[in-house]
Amino acid sequence: MNRAKAEFFDAQVAAGWAAEEYGDTERPKLERLLQQSELQPGHWVLEPGCGTGRLSEVLAQVVGPTGHLVATDISQGMVTACRKRVAGLSWVRVERLAVEDYHAPAIGFDRVVCHQVFPHFDDQPAALAHMVKLLKPAGVLTVVHFMPSAVINDTHRKAGTVVEKDMLPPPEEMRRMIKQAGLELETLADDELGYLLKARLPSA
Ligand SMILES: C[S@@+](CC[C@H](N)C(=O)[O-])C[C@H]1O[C@@H](n2cnc3c(N)ncnc32)[C@H](O)[C@@H]1O
Repeated sequence: MNRAKAEFFDAQVAAGWAAEEYGDTERPKLERLLQQSELQPGHWVLEPGCGTGRLSEVLAQVVGPTGHLVATDISQGMVTACRKRVAGLSWVRVERLAVEDYHAPAIGFDRVVCHQVFPHFDDQPAALAHMVKLLKPAGVLTVVHFMPSAVINDTHRKAGTVVEKDMLPPPEEMRRMIKQAGLELETLADDELGYLLKARLPSA
């Protein structure tokens, strides 16, 4: 686990970008994410980098008690905030873990949702390869940001902190990484609703 990044995010738990409730601006972005993820009740979902759990709560409501959500984050502060938010939802587990260190139950996941975390993986191809191992055949992985990649990358570049080199790769590199990981790319949007990549593991 990258301790410097974990400490950086610990200090961000109460920041607006991490803690403010979703409102009207996020609604169409959330709708696109849910529609593209093809999320259904009963699904098993892995959410790396859950932060304070705003999306975890939404995902948990969609999969419902017949499903299962595992939310992980490297920051103890984020994990504590997320656990508080999903308290009482018995089908949700929140773990303090880098997703690269998470080992799946035998059943695997129907969906992996990387919301605003992909740039922060230290070794993006390795993280992708690991997440693919956690997916069921025909499972879907999404990489989602509520801002376009140019804004995300610019924000990180100017941060002057431990995240300053954390970038969403350009489209050609992302396509190559997705293919190398054994996934089939179905959607790559980078527009006013933000960044959304959807890729599927072929059926067994
Ligand atoms: C920009 S925040 C996004 C949080 C949340 N998804 C949101 O949109 O509000 C990125 C989060 O990913 C976590 N993170 C970074 N690298 C991680 C990794 N390798 N595995 C799991 N979580 C990670 C950070 O601690 C941080 O909480």
